[in-house]
Amino acid sequence: MPNAKHAQRLAIALLAAIALAACSKVETNETAAADPGHASGEHGSSSSAGLPAGRIAAGEQLANAKGKATGQSCIDCHGAEGNAPIDGTYPKLGGQYADYIAHALQAYRAGDRQHALMSPQANGLSDQDISDLAAYFGSRESKLRDLHGVH
Ligand code: HEC
Repeated sequence: MPNAKHAQRLAIALLAAIALAACSKVETNETAAADPGHASGEHGSSSSAGLPAGRIAAGEQLANAKGKATGQSCIDCHGAEGNAPIDGTYPKLGGQYADYIAHALQAYRAGDRQHALMSPQANGLSDQDISDLAAYFGSRESKLRDLHGVH
């Protein structure tokens, strides 16, 4: 019965294709687990928010450049590498999750998060600027800490 044989071959081919698809899915997950994306920067991973991949070197330049809106740079307020804010109430950025930084900058830019000093800093940033700044600050040493023992 040539038809039955044909059907059997087709079924085998189909199963093989499904197995192959399943295997490649597992591989993708393993790669993602090996690189959780923290301080990702230059390996070209893009953010969950659909932003372009961040470039650490470009972010460093931008972080040190005086912005048009206020004549101030990020590090003028957040300190060298985002780790030495000029005021105790200004957040440290060094070693913060890049996705978090990018999300915060998008919220300031959109007006969903508002602050008299910070909002104007984010207004003129492009998606690429935001990704670059996030990659740069996210890749710095973390001096973040909780408030345990602080009163
Ligand atoms: C004039 C001072 C000043 C400048 C310049 C400045 N910031 Fe800020 N930034 C602040 C202050 C103050 C806050 C806290 C605002 C708040 O409570 O929402 C802040 C908050 C942030 C946050 C949120 C941090 C968090 O933990 O939620 C990010 C991210 C940030 N700034 C990035 C930048 C970047 C990138 C630049 C340069 C493009 C920049 N800032 C320039 C003062 C400044």
